[in-house]
Amino acid sequence: MAKPEYDVLIIGSGAAGLTAALALAETKKVLVMAKGLLTGGSTAWAQGGIAAVLDTGDTFENHIRDTMVAGAGLNRLETVEYVIERAPHSIARLVELGVPFNEEGPDLHLTREGGHSHRRIVHVNDATGWAVQEALLRAAEANANITLLPGQSCIDLITGRHEQRYSGSGRVWGAYALDEASGKVGAHTARATIMAAGGAGRVYQFSTAPRGATGDGIAMAWRAGCRVSNMEMMQFHPTCLYNLEVKNFLITEAVRGEGGRLLHPLTGHRFMTDYDPQRMELAPRDVVARAIDDQIKRYGLDYVHLDISHQPEAFVKEHFPTIYDKLMGLGIDMTKGPIPVVPAQHYTCGGILIDLAGRTDLPGLYAAGECTESGLHGANRLASNSLLECFVFGEAAAADILERWNEFDAPPAVRPWDESRVTDSDEEVIIKQNWTEIRRFMWNYVGIVRTTKRLERAQHRIQMLGREIEDYYGSFRVTTDLIELRNLHQAAALIVQSALKRHESRGLHYTLDYPATSPAAEDTVLVP
Ligand code: FAD
Ligand code: SIN
Repeated sequence: MAKPEYDVLIIGSGAAGLTAALALAETKKVLVMAKGLLTGGSTAWAQGGIAAVLDTGDTFENHIRDTMVAGAGLNRLETVEYVIERAPHSIARLVELGVPFNEEGPDLHLTREGGHSHRRIVHVNDATGWAVQEALLRAAEANANITLLPGQSCIDLITGRHEQRYSGSGRVWGAYALDEASGKVGAHTARATIMAAGGAGRVYQFSTAPRGATGDGIAMAWRAGCRVSNMEMMQFHPTCLYNLEVKNFLITEAVRGEGGRLLHPLTGHRFMTDYDPQRMELAPRDVVARAIDDQIKRYGLDYVHLDISHQPEAFVKEHFPTIYDKLMGLGIDMTKGPIPVVPAQHYTCGGILIDLAGRTDLPGLYAAGECTESGLHGANRLASNSLLECFVFGEAAAADILERWNEFDAPPAVRPWDESRVTDSDEEVIIKQNWTEIRRFMWNYVGIVRTTKRLERAQHRIQMLGREIEDYYGSFRVTTDLIELRNLHQAAALIVQSALKRHESRGLHYTLDYPATSPAAEDTVLVP
């Protein structure tokens, strides 16, 4: 049977990928591939909500200013305006798709999060991402022009170097992907490709991100020849549950938005009064995460307390039903006492450099969502701006592809995946060992507070592991674990290289060797 042909390949079935797919599918045949389950990305895990100016007392200017303040001036104003002005449209589209946002009278209920000067977060209780993911998937499944293919680990983009008649051009024609069930690698070609493969959070030992957030999209695009920028800007969420059984459960920022206080676990002191007396618990994330990190290190603590038990029991249960149930299952009643929390990696602000149309450096390749650096977040993402970025850039990439459709020629014949020089691995333990090692030294040396010496130590280890991983990759048949390790290593290398290049402290990049902020804000752009 002839292989089906698709117009556009999308790598990733989260908010960015599915938004793009739905926007293309009126006229184009779209293939959406995902690693593991279709619901395996960060989108399904999002709690707090989506930022949008919907209240008459709020303005685009306020939202733009809050975004730029959180981003420590590194944001590109043009992008910030572009995204924020499109937010009401994105919310209207999600309502149309059936997302059951919480309501307050005739309007949507708006909650508040750190760094926002107004209530502007639309949400579905404390499990917004799951509702969004479900609605997008439902619409995609119902669309005959969209084929959803889970269980595909994309390995690398197909470019001119993979053509049967070698052209060596940077034009992207799709991707090679490992079918996780059969173990076979297929070449999936298309006229245009959108990378929407999410972030690289799992490069750190403690992260709120799901297992598959291994930076695959960023690494694939980098290897194919795309520039990446601001990779040192890794966001740490201040309040991840501290629990020896459950390692990465987020306690949404909305808990602080609705009155939650951060307390020293032994003295009960509300310590944000010492760090940011005006904004307190609702200061931007980098400020709150550094304050908690400082308390933990200064007093030798394992965690600090987040307490919302002063609010009425019914209020807490109504606003945070998912968190309440989860914590009760672990013996913690948040209506009666505090929650132990620690900071954990949460969001990858840097990534593949894109323009306002979602175009990358390579012809035929677009990118959207957490794998990109669009200029929206700058040196620190404002809470609940990232799902919004996925919707806006998913649509922007689709619109540009449709507009330029005549420029996209049909893919040429490409070489099949070559397995002639590899065998099955008999040393899977190497993958686990390297994976653990990378995540541990990234946490210890490239975390919330950095120094040049620690970054250089990390770089040295990355170089050593790089040789081992490439040797392993060249000798054995690929598995999802190996693909992820190779990408995790690549992402770690890009983060450390970027961090070493920034000789200042700004937003999420805080180094004891350069504590001051330079007068001019400049992106860290790496060229392959
Ligand atoms: P994802 O949703 O992560 O999807 C990535 C997709 O790419 C997946 O389908 C995955 O399978 C696929 N993929 C990855 N690698 C490969 C590969 N090699 N081959 C094939 N497919 C691949 N943001 C907000 O705005 N508001 C919130 O309230 C919020 N809460 C959050 C809570 C948590 C716990 C976390 C972790 C994040 C939260 N965020 C929030 C951030 C936000 O969820 C993400 O930035 C956003 O969902 C990213 O969407 P995406 O489409 O770019 O990628
Ligand atoms: C949260 O609910 O605290 C996460 C919001 C976000 O990451 O934008």
